[in-house]
Amino acid sequence: MSTLLKLLQDGRFHSGEALGAQLGISRSAVWKQLQQLEINLRIRIHKVRGRGYRLADPLVLLDADQLSRQANAEFWPFILLDSVDSTNAEALRYVGRGMDAPFAVLAERQVSGRGRRGRSWASPYAENIYYSLALQVEGGARQLEGLSLVVGLAVMWALRDVGVPQVGLKWPNDLLVSGRKIAGILLELSGDPADICHVVMGIGVNVNMGVSVDEIGQPWTSIRLESGQVCDRNNFVICLSRRLAEYLKRHSNSGFPSLRSEWEANHLWQGRNVLLEAGAQRIEGRILGVDQCGALRLEVEGREHSFSGGELSLRLRDDS
Ligand code: BTN
Repeated sequence: MSTLLKLLQDGRFHSGEALGAQLGISRSAVWKQLQQLEINLRIRIHKVRGRGYRLADPLVLLDADQLSRQANAEFWPFILLDSVDSTNAEALRYVGRGMDAPFAVLAERQVSGRGRRGRSWASPYAENIYYSLALQVEGGARQLEGLSLVVGLAVMWALRDVGVPQVGLKWPNDLLVSGRKIAGILLELSGDPADICHVVMGIGVNVNMGVSVDEIGQPWTSIRLESGQVCDRNNFVICLSRRLAEYLKRHSNSGFPSLRSEWEANHLWQGRNVLLEAGAQRIEGRILGVDQCGALRLEVEGREHSFSGGELSLRLRDDS
């Protein structure tokens, strides 16, 4: 099916006969494959009598050759998959089987994409980026301090590189444009954080997602909606990898304290009144910033408190 998609990727009309000839299959087999694309991958196809078939929406597939060439020269190996449950889950499985880190798992789609706080992450085929980078952490828990916030900075700059200048951060690691989510980050650990462990940094970026996705329970946007142009996802993977390499190096050399003021300068909710939910607990306060470890500093009833942990949720207070 992916060969058929590659032929249709140019957005032009192709007759069933021509597609069949290129694939070495009959016209009715082409028709069946097209139906599979529509049903399994939810790809919309225009059929016009006398002209043939073309994709209803633009599509840029990940190019394994291009990405591996660049990955091997500049970054870490990429493992490129067509479909997977979750790139984070797959990266953790590779770690469990003893694969040397760093490496990154990317997929055209996820059927059980994982979000923070037990949520799912909408992962339609070939529209967005689902990227999980596995790293070995040797310096114990200190090496993890502020790491997810630093990944947020890298994703933010990659988005600015491709034409989304207004993107900013929301603690701990959401990326927003005008209150709409454009990317999210989920860190998962394997091993003993006090000793040698692996961290998988899962990054989901809405790239070319249009208006047709309805299963997202919060306001969202995408690079395409913000920049007004279809984004070349291969180019975006390269920009993202470059920024990740840059920021991870700075974090490993100098730690989060050296990046803290840059993070705060890009924090969209700095100084705002918020409601923090920690399990059943609800705390009202004003955001002061983050501390040396990346924990949130809140002023609560005139006193400063710090909060950290992936299960926390933050909302703006109506009167903020
Ligand atoms: C969030 O809830 O904001 C975090 C979303 C993280 C989604 C990414 S997509 C790639 C990686 N694989 C997953 O299953 N989740 C992360």
